[in-house]
Amino acid sequence: MQQFYQFGLRPLLFNLLKADAETVHRQTIDTLAWLATNPNAGPLFHQPTRLAAQAAMAGLCEVRSPRLNQSLWHCAFDNPLGLAAGFDKDGTAARAWPLMGFGFAELGTVTYHPQPGNPQPRMFRLPADRAALNRMGFNNQGAAALSARLAALWPDHNYPVPIGINLGKSKITPLEDAAEDYRKSFELLKSQGSYFVVNVSSPNTPGLRSLQAKEQLAPILETLQTANTQNKPLLVKISPDLATEDIREIVQLAQDCQLAGIIATNTTISRDGLTTKTVAQTGQSVTDEAGGISGAPVTRRSTEVIRLIYEQTQGKLPIIGVGGIFNADDAWDKITAGASLLQTYTGWAYEGPTMVRSVLKGLLTKLDEHGLSAIADAVGKAHKPKNIG
Ligand SMILES: Cc1cc2nc3c(=O)[nH]c(=O)nc-3n(C[C@H](O)[C@H](O)[C@H](O)COP(=O)(O)O)c2cc1C
Repeated sequence: MQQFYQFGLRPLLFNLLKADAETVHRQTIDTLAWLATNPNAGPLFHQPTRLAAQAAMAGLCEVRSPRLNQSLWHCAFDNPLGLAAGFDKDGTAARAWPLMGFGFAELGTVTYHPQPGNPQPRMFRLPADRAALNRMGFNNQGAAALSARLAALWPDHNYPVPIGINLGKSKITPLEDAAEDYRKSFELLKSQGSYFVVNVSSPNTPGLRSLQAKEQLAPILETLQTANTQNKPLLVKISPDLATEDIREIVQLAQDCQLAGIIATNTTISRDGLTTKTVAQTGQSVTDEAGGISGAPVTRRSTEVIRLIYEQTQGKLPIIGVGGIFNADDAWDKITAGASLLQTYTGWAYEGPTMVRSVLKGLLTKLDEHGLSAIADAVGKAHKPKNIG
C-alpha cells in the first residue's frame, strides 16, 4: 500500500497530472468524508462499498497495542500520533481520522467569523525539501458551523478518539479585540472539544504572532480560562521562530494560567537551508513567496523547542510535538525530547495513509530496543541522565 502511494498515486497526482496542492488536499478530504460517512446513511447501494472501505482503511492503517495507550487530561489516547491542525479545518472528514489510525485529531483552525482565507494559489509542495509552503490564512466556515457539524456527527460527544479544537483570531477582528474573538469561538464549542488550542503562531494572519508576547497572550488566556467553566484542557500552540527567552516567558505564563500543555510547533517563516530555490507552481523565488514552511525543514527546530519546554517545566507540562515527523525515528526523537503526544500534517501527505501504522509499529520496536514497556515511559527519556534524573 505504501509503495502504491509513494511510487504510483503520489507521482501521478504530484507530477503527471500537475495537480495543484490545494486541489489534491480538497479531494482527499472529500474522499475521506464520503468513505467515513455512517455506513447506514445515504443510498443503499453505497452501503456495502462504504463498509468494505472502512474495514480496509482500518485494517491498513491501525496499530492497536496497550503499550501505546496514555491517559492525559482525563482523556484516553489509544496511541500518541494525531492529525495536526489545518488538515481538516471544518471537521468535514472528522469521522475518517480514527479509521486512518490516528490516536486523536485536531480540527481547525476555526475562527469566530467564517472567512475565505488568502487568495489562491496558497499551498505549495517543495518536494526537494520534503516540505510544504502555505499561506492559507485560516480559510474556514466558522466556529458555529464546526459546532453544528460535530453535534450532527456525535450528538452525545462520544468520539471514537479525542477531538481537539484549534481556535484562531478572525482576520476582521482587530488585534486589541483578540481575547473576545477567541472567547466567542470557545463559547460556541466549549462543550464539544476534548481539548482546545489557542493558536497564536500562524504566520498567515497579519499580526497574529505578536499575540505570543506575554502582555498580549495573558489577557487571552485569562479570558478563556474564566469562560472555561467545564475545566477543559486548554493549550497554546507556538512558533518555531521564537527566541529561547520568548519560549521561557510563554511556558511560565502557561503554567501561571494553568494551561494543560503546549503544542510545539507551527510552521516557520525561515527559508534557511532550503534546497528549493523556485516554487514550481508560480516560478517565484521561495524567499519571495509569503507563508510558513512545514515538513523536514522544521524537524530539528521543533524537537529543540520541545526539549526546552520539557527542561524548563521538568516534564510537568504535557507537550504535543509537531513538525517534520515522517517516520518512527522522528517520532521517537520528539517523544524522548519530552513530547507526550505527536501530530503530523506534511509527513502524512508525503508518506501516505500507511504512515501512521509504520510510525506506530516503529515506536513499538523502539520500546523493545530500549527495554521499556509503555510509551509513557519514553517521554523525556533523552533528558533523564543529564538534566533531570
Ligand atoms: C497547508 C497547511 C495548513 C495549516 N493550517 C494550520 C492551521 O490552520 N492551524 C494550525 O495551528 N496549524 C496549521 N498548520 C501547521 C501544522 O498544524 C503543523 O504545526 C506544521 O505544519 C508542522 O507540522 P508538519 O511538519 O507535520 O506539517 C498548517 C500546515 C499546513 C502545511
